[in-house]
This record gives sequence, structure tokens and C-alpha cells, in this order.
Amino acid sequence: MKRIKCCTYYFIFFASFLFSCKEVPKQEPVKLKDNSSFEQKINALLQQMTLEEKIGQMNQYNGFWEITGPVPKNGDAKKKYDHLRKGLVGAVLNVKGVKNVRKLQEIAVKETRLGIPLLFGFDVIHGHKTLFPIPLGEAASWDLSIIENSARIAAIEASAVGINWTFAPMVDISRDARWGRCMEGAGEDTYLGSKIGVARIKGFQGTDLSANNTIAATAKHFAGYGFAEAGRDYNTVDIGTSTLYNIILPTFKAAVESGVKTVMNSFNVVNGIPATGNKFLQRDVLKESWKFNGFVVSDWGSGLEMIDHGFAKDLKQVAEISVNAGSDMDMESYAYVAHLKGLVETGKVDIKIIDDAVRRILRVKFELGLFDDPYRYCDEKREKDLIYNPTHIAAALDVAKKSIVLLKNENQFLPLIKTQNKIAVIGPLGADKNSPLGSWRIGSDDSTAISVVEGLEKYSNNITYAKGAELVIGKTDFINEVKINETDTTGFYEAIQLAKNSEVVIMVLGEHGFQSGEGRSRSKLDLPGLQQQLLEEVYKVNKKIVLVVMSGRPLILTWADKNIPAIVQTWQLGTQSGHAIAQVLFGDYNPSGKLPMTFPRSVGQLPIYYNTYNTGRPGPKTEVFWSHYGDESNEPLYPFGYGLSYSTFSYTNLKINDADQTAIKVTVTVKNTSKVDGEEVAQLYIRDKIASTVRPIKELKGFNKLLLKAGEQKQLEFILKPAELGFYTNEGKFVLEPGEFDIMVGTNSTTGLKGSFTLK
Ligand code: NOJ
Repeated sequence: MKRIKCCTYYFIFFASFLFSCKEVPKQEPVKLKDNSSFEQKINALLQQMTLEEKIGQMNQYNGFWEITGPVPKNGDAKKKYDHLRKGLVGAVLNVKGVKNVRKLQEIAVKETRLGIPLLFGFDVIHGHKTLFPIPLGEAASWDLSIIENSARIAAIEASAVGINWTFAPMVDISRDARWGRCMEGAGEDTYLGSKIGVARIKGFQGTDLSANNTIAATAKHFAGYGFAEAGRDYNTVDIGTSTLYNIILPTFKAAVESGVKTVMNSFNVVNGIPATGNKFLQRDVLKESWKFNGFVVSDWGSGLEMIDHGFAKDLKQVAEISVNAGSDMDMESYAYVAHLKGLVETGKVDIKIIDDAVRRILRVKFELGLFDDPYRYCDEKREKDLIYNPTHIAAALDVAKKSIVLLKNENQFLPLIKTQNKIAVIGPLGADKNSPLGSWRIGSDDSTAISVVEGLEKYSNNITYAKGAELVIGKTDFINEVKINETDTTGFYEAIQLAKNSEVVIMVLGEHGFQSGEGRSRSKLDLPGLQQQLLEEVYKVNKKIVLVVMSGRPLILTWADKNIPAIVQTWQLGTQSGHAIAQVLFGDYNPSGKLPMTFPRSVGQLPIYYNTYNTGRPGPKTEVFWSHYGDESNEPLYPFGYGLSYSTFSYTNLKINDADQTAIKVTVTVKNTSKVDGEEVAQLYIRDKIASTVRPIKELKGFNKLLLKAGEQKQLEFILKPAELGFYTNEGKFVLEPGEFDIMVGTNSTTGLKGSFTLK
């Protein structure tokens, strides 16, 4: 409520301010020879800029149409407009619609002295209007080409509404499902996460950044944000160097190598130093060692937060620490515009640091083509034609069905036969058109997903729906806490009666779409509210249940796994959710997704991930002295890489050819041993058996998603190069050590054909 009022106020204020302003006399715009290179143009521009104007480029303000962080105390619209007109703003975020983008761009171009165009940033996370599955769900497809295409379409739609910069992809690795933002990444594995991050960057940025349908991407959050202690968002991160170099940094390095234009730092402290003030990460690693030539943007107010961290005493020190550490653009801390000039004048900040930051920011603006045409992303016709374009909807459906993971299918309970009589759909998410859109979709429209009931109705006239229980109480939105119904069971009776009188029950349970995402950590990961109770009550009267789980993270499904014959993990699948789920349940699409994150048996197992180190007491042992829980298995419920199909696949004939030591060749035959066509994700894991720094018991180093017709077999080849076989020492040096390596190739991270070779 507070936000609505505040936004409305600002909007009205903003709008009236816009129209009442008098023309400021225009200065001569910068003259740049067209044939000079970007670097020459940037140098020429820098020479014409005052110190204030340079600092202005390093300042990003929120546009007030939407808020994606705490409402700032000193962020009044009047001041922001004043700054904009003085050339003291380089970028804005959260501006909605071509009309509004154009208005602000016109101020920057026509009213400021040098007419430098603005960047328009936005969290385009899993589609803009047409929504694709949440990134974690999409990662379950293990299909890089559809993931790239999904980002491509997101860029087409976002650029059509005036946006030229997305704060995506999030390439943080997450091993703890309590952390609500695991929905926004590619899961727990660095190899898979790097490939997916690169695919998304390619999709957003395309091959020509200056085209009007490509946008700059952001690799975020640099670094370690996904390792927040106890899964609580924004919490402290304390990690060893081995984890930092081998698990956390490689996804960012891959992003930089693929040409990502910006990197966002993060809210968290990394080993005692806040990421925003972290010189080692931003200067030494990112800019020096990796030669990143784009710019670093802070996270929302992350500079300011260094005061609460106890790292800076005031906003002035925030500015000094951040800029010296390499944070080039300040998002919503209000530190740079207020203090950088004074800091340069008193010698606390070297002008070279300012010039370097501005150069980086201007470079991205040039590459986007904004100096040729600042309005290239402002085309009302494109906005009208491209939003929710039918080809985008079709692609969203394709990705949605490929993201679904079949977790259990006892006695081939699924697929359902199309002539099935009396199907009951039960559960609060069964007819929900909002939750399937997931979190982080501020550019889209609420309640626009196809619900499960709507999807199923395309297949059958025998569908009856009963909610069973409300999941949430009251309204839900992006910035308020979701309130869960813990008490009202009045809908149970109707649901139980319906289950009694139906042949099959499809229970659609899980998390509300806003239970995951930023600030949405959970300490319990079972089905929220009354849903577990509802499931067990329905089970008492009808055991023929398909459980459809919608969630933004792995949930605890231990009871369901023991009792329910079929379980389908559907994440939040976006606009086409219900159609995708119906296609899988009725067998029109044979599920092919594999888990990008381990599903625990209980919260006490967290953090849980497949690529652990061995302990010195791996067990199991008959006595108590080995590494285990007395009350829980060490094993997850469903491991990383796991997912069933209506087909069955066999793996045979593993061969390893190590003749060329720089390219170890691994071949394997995969056969579809069933009567239905299906897709399989063949996965290759290595283990470096003895090394100077202990290595994980398994590491994914290759995968291949392939379609096999019924009875068909194919030979697959994987090549392992030094990049796959080496690792980072605790000093951050990449080394390749001779010795024996184990190989495993199979259908998930726990089973497969085994072999070994020696690196000489
Ligand atoms: C805070 C989030 O951490 C970041 O990922 C996002 O891009 C910004 N807010 C802007 O909305």
C-alpha cells in the first residue's frame, strides 16, 4: 500500500514536472568525427566533459515507475529531474514504456550540455512481457539453444519498450534452497551455470549490440551472493579460496569472456569485505586479470549498505571506497553525485579512476549505438507489434515443456490416457494464473499465465476443480511479504468429496510465485501452509494421484516420494505454464528436464550439492564415527542431474582415448530402449583422484541433450581439454596436474558407466 501511494505520488509529480518545464538553452552538442573509432570518440568526449558531467555518467537513478529495492530516503523526484537536466545522470532503471523512456531520453539529449544519452536498465529476468520459465526452471532443460532463444526474445520485447540494458543473467551459484534467489540462477553447478550464463548473454546481446533489438547484459552478483549464510538473503558470505576460485568466480569469468557488457556487484560481505568496496574482486580479478572492459554497476544501494556493514562511516566514505574499489556506477546510493567531486579535489580519488569508469560507461553507450540514435529503442510500433508476439508465445511453450522434470513415475502411472474419465484437479495452484509467472517479472502483466486447469481442459471434458485450501491470505506483490494460510481448512471437504468420486487426482501444490525471489528466504521447505495436510487427506480417499509441484526452488518432497505414484516438478513455467504441464501429463511431450539443483530430504541437509569433497570418514561405517547424520541419510531425495522420461535409455560401450593428452576423447553409446521417442541429457563427470588441493568427488564436465527415436541409438563423443581437467589453486592459479582421473557417463550425477585415464 505504501509503495502504491509513493509511486503514484512520484508519477504525478514527475509527469507534471515534465510538462511544466521550460526549455533550457541548448549548448552545442559534442562534435565527433563519424569515422573515428569508439575509443577516439570517447577520448574526444572525455576532453569536453567537466568533472561533474563525468561523475554524472556514473550515477544511476530509479525511475519511480516500479521499485525493486528499499524506498530511498533522499531520492525525491524533483532532485532527480534537476540532476538529469544538469547532465548528472548516466542511467536510470525501472522506467516503463516507450513513451516514458522517450521523455527522459529527450531531456538527456536535448537539455543537457553535452546531450549524452541515457542507459535504461531493467530486470528482464525470464522474459519481459511474454514470460518464460523462471531461470532455475529453464536451466532444467539443459538445452542451451532454447535458453539462448528465450533471452533473445526477452531482449526483443524489452528493447521494443525502450529498454537497452538488462540486469541479467544472474550467474550466482546456489547450493542452498532456503535462499529465495536460487530461482533466478542456473542452480548449483559451475560448469552448467557457465554454459547457461553465456547462452543468456548471447541471447540478450546478440551478435550486434547496436541493433535495435539487442540489449546489454549484466553478469551478477559479483561475487558470492548465492552463498549467503543459512540461505538468508543479503547475509554474510564467508568462503574459502578454493570455493571462490573454483565454484563462484568461473561463471563470471565465462561471462566476461563471452563479452558481457556489465557486471553488477552485490550486497554481501565476502570474507569480511563488502563486495561493492572489494578492490580485490573488482579491480584485481575482474578488470586486471580478466581484462573486463565493460563497467561495474553497484547493486541497489549496495554502496550505502557499507555503512551498516561497518565498513564506511558515512556516504562520503562510501563514495571513496566504492569508486576506488572499482564500482563504476552507483545505483541508488546517491553517493557519487554528492561526494566524488570533493574527493577528487582533495586527492582522495584519482581523476584517472573517474576517467576510467566514465570511459567504460561511454563505451557501452557507443556500442549500443545510442550516440548514433538515442531513440533507437523508442519505437511505439515495435512496442505494439512485438509484445506477446505469437512466435514468442510458441517459444515460451517450447521452453516451458522442456523445463519440466519428471521426479517419479511408479508403474508408468503417467502419461494419462486422453480418454480418462473423471479427472479431479485439486490444490490452490490448480487454477492460479498468477503464481506460474514466478517472481521477478515486473515488466509483465499479472495473472496472464495459462493455468493448469485451462491447459488440461484442452485435452479433456472430464476435468473438475476444487481448490481445497487457499495458499495465501490477502494480496501478493513483488515488494510485500506473502502471507500463508495456515488455518482455514474449509475447502478440504469439497476436495475430498471430489477425490472420492474421481478416477485420477491431479494435485497442483507448491509455492506462491512470490515466495521465492529477492528477500524471499525460507527456513522451512515443505509444501507451504495446509498443502501437505490436504495432500494426505486426499491420499486417504484416492491414491491415484499425480503431484504437480510448482516452486521457485527445490522443496522437501520426502513424504510424497514415499506415497504418491507420480511427481512432476514444474517450477514456475511462465505465460504458457498450463499448456506445457498438460502436454507432459497427457504424453504429447515426453519430459526431458534434469535437476539443476539437488533436492534434499530435509532442511537439515542444507547446503547440499553433488560435487562435495570427500571427508576423511566418508563411510558408511558400522560404528558411529563417520561423517553422517544420526537422524537422516546423507543422500539427497533427488540428485543433481536427475530426471525421468517416458522412455528408457541404456548406456554402453564407454571408451576413453587419451592418446592426445590435450584432448581426451570419451565415447559412449546411448540407446532409447523403449517404444516412445524421447530426449536424454547424457552427462559426463570427472574426478581428479589425487591433487595438490583436494578435488570434488565428481564434477560435471560435459553434457549432451539428444533426441532418440524409439529403439534408436547414437554414439556420443565428449572431449576433455585442459580447461575441463585443471583447477584453481588457493592462490588463484589455474593448474593442470598429472595423475589419474575417473570418468563417469550417465543419466544423472549418481549413476553411469565408469572408466579412467591418466594425464601424464
Ligand atoms: C536488487 C537486486 O539484487 C538486483 O539483482 C537488481 O538488478 C536490482 N535490485 C535492480 O532492480
